[in-house]
Amino acid sequence: MLKNKNIILGVCGSIAAYKSAILVRLLVKAGANVKVILTPDGANFITPLTLATLSKNPVYTQYFEEETGVWSNHVELGLWADLIIIAPTSANTLAKLATGICDNLLTAVYLSAKCPVYVAPAMDLDMWKHETTRGNISKIKSFGNTIIAPQSGELASGLYGEGRLAEPEEIVAFLESSIKKGLPFYGQKVMVTAGPTYEAIDPVRFIGNHSSGKMGFAIADELSRLGADVTLIAGPTAQKATEPLKRIDVVSAKDMFEACISVFQETDITIMSAAVADYKPKTVSTQKIKKNNSEFNLELEKTTDILASLGMVKTQNQILVGFALETNDEENYAKAKLVKKNLDLVILNSLNDKGAGFKSDTNKITIFNKALQKTAFDVKSKADVAKDICNEILKLIK
Ligand code: CTP
Repeated sequence: MLKNKNIILGVCGSIAAYKSAILVRLLVKAGANVKVILTPDGANFITPLTLATLSKNPVYTQYFEEETGVWSNHVELGLWADLIIIAPTSANTLAKLATGICDNLLTAVYLSAKCPVYVAPAMDLDMWKHETTRGNISKIKSFGNTIIAPQSGELASGLYGEGRLAEPEEIVAFLESSIKKGLPFYGQKVMVTAGPTYEAIDPVRFIGNHSSGKMGFAIADELSRLGADVTLIAGPTAQKATEPLKRIDVVSAKDMFEACISVFQETDITIMSAAVADYKPKTVSTQKIKKNNSEFNLELEKTTDILASLGMVKTQNQILVGFALETNDEENYAKAKLVKKNLDLVILNSLNDKGAGFKSDTNKITIFNKALQKTAFDVKSKADVAKDICNEILKLIK
């Protein structure tokens, strides 16, 4: 969730500032780009050198660094950030955030920023309980900021009560879960199929196809990135998912059918991008077939159409998306598949289109919705095609 995110960590004057060193370390470890802004008081509790070394970035303490003559532009910093976390937030800074006072770089960046802001207060228990602090907390919440509540425990004053800064691990977990909850596919259970299927002829031979699985994996990765809980059912392929998801490997159309049926009932959205074999050998020889005759005929029988089977049992709330790979009269065949298989969207691949197809890294698609409205897209990388597909699905769940 935090990978490649630009994060500004504000550190205020509080003994809990020692925890910000660990927080920076954890954020950097999670793949975030971290820039630290220390308030003048914060710099009394932890050195800029510690935070600069851990964040691998210069630490900002004021608008103007006298020694270097560098001016820190608060607007630029505010716009750079994907999120701001102020941990620890002192009672003093909290009051400034509530009233709009911007007498230091951190509060000025806060006022300039458009990104989500997380505030993790730390103070003595009576300061935390004070009416003024309570009022400031409600005020900054009403501005859309998120509070990461302090915990109870022994405080620096020796008193015991609420006011301890949340632990760095908890702050990171809070940020990750909060980002996840804001993603468009959060809470959606999604099933994606990808790759070819292999239909055995004998122990060493099979009928397969050229599907690489690239398109299905790109869709599964994109959905996971957008917060979905993804189950990827993959035929034999060398592809690897880059995002966290549950992967079920299968070989034949029958295996894929069984895996899909076992997952489907629990899914909100299903995208069938696998190139499932339409026919399989009627019998599978248990021993290697010898080349005894000059001719050899294989008797084939139809596999179960997985997509059509799911279309028959799908409920009103489930979204079913299929592909149609066509070589002629493409649009009519695709629309016919949408109706016949009871789909919500059909994604047409025409093999006549340059840049579309099985093995390439690009694809060109046309999408039809239930009202048979058409949206055509240009040739794009499969990662970008996956984004277009996700956008079309989002229109159905919004
Ligand atoms: N599909 C499936 N099970 C099969 C065959 C296909 O679930 N046994 C799914 C594919 O994953 C794809 C869609 O059906 O989403 C369309 O596949 P395609 O091969 O284009 O069409 P078919 O329905 O097989 O029809 P035809 O081969 O006659 O064009």
